[in-house]
Amino acid sequence: MPAAILPADRPDAIEAAADALRAGRLVAFPTETVYGLGADAGSDAAVAAIYAAKGRPSHNPLIVHLPDAQAAMRFGRFDARAQRLASAFWPGPLTLVVPRAEAVPLSPRATAGLPTVALRVPSHPVALALLLASGLPLAAPSANVSGRVSATTAQHVAETLGDKVAVILDGGPTQVGVESTIVGLAGERPVLLRPGGVPREAIEALIGPLDEPAAGIVAAPGMLASHYAPHCPVRLNVTAPRADEALLAFGPDVPAGAKLVLNLSASGNLEEAAANLYAHLRALDRADIAAIAVMPIPQHGLGHAINDRLRRAAAPRHE
Ligand code: TXA
Ligand code: MG
Repeated sequence: MPAAILPADRPDAIEAAADALRAGRLVAFPTETVYGLGADAGSDAAVAAIYAAKGRPSHNPLIVHLPDAQAAMRFGRFDARAQRLASAFWPGPLTLVVPRAEAVPLSPRATAGLPTVALRVPSHPVALALLLASGLPLAAPSANVSGRVSATTAQHVAETLGDKVAVILDGGPTQVGVESTIVGLAGERPVLLRPGGVPREAIEALIGPLDEPAAGIVAAPGMLASHYAPHCPVRLNVTAPRADEALLAFGPDVPAGAKLVLNLSASGNLEEAAANLYAHLRALDRADIAAIAVMPIPQHGLGHAINDRLRRAAAPRHE
């Protein structure tokens, strides 16, 4: 049965969602980055249901969400760098991959059997309320079908995962719009596993330069070449769109000629562009469009995350 979209500010909405989580069911909820597909990270069966609902390969581990840094520190070993980043950016759009603590109540499925764990304290009030009300660590990938465009509204979740979840908590459109930045701190040197909502520059200002993931291995198993993909092909760095294309524009100077245009930010603001990215990709992904043509996006601040997602959206598909 399709899940009801429950406005998160309705009395009892958080309690109903927390009850569903305690019963081992799936709940979609807003975070400041994208909507998450949450389940009790301590339950093998609940975590298995996440993988099944998304069609996600089981070797791709999940992020475990906690209500505060103190709770997060019970699940992993935090060195000085991790503590610094946690106190600067939590709650917020940062995920830390650290060595997993011994004897924690986590399903090995949540970490795909790895000796490390990805931890995040989100800042969205609905996410925090749900974490506190349930009293559970929540494993939560982005609430989209594996490999496809992430969800930044409750309606996006309902369109593709509506029949797989018990409750969809509606907290309106998410503010940041791209996923959390993931920093790997399990080795000697810190690694930028995924650019995201906290700009790389802000992290490097605190702990020094971040390494790129080593070539040839997929450091964050979810960072496969093709990801975030709409159904239409995607063409990057376009300055002259074709008549049968939809143009994903950026900035005030938009070339003419496309069949349809949506602008990520007419003023050229990267925060605004990140917030619009997934909703615009979804809106341009139409059967009457030959391809989505994307204008160049500057590579600084949130531009790192936007360009990362667009490159993967444009990569050759697995299918
Ligand atoms: O903003 C976000 O991070 C959202 C919201 C819902 O919190 N979540 C999210 O989760 O983006 P997901 O599952 O779509 O992406 C998690 C990424 C994957 O690329 C996964 O491979 C990586 O984190 N990851 C998780 N645990 C890891 C670990 N132990 N080592 C390396 N990468 C890990
Ligand atoms: Mg995802």
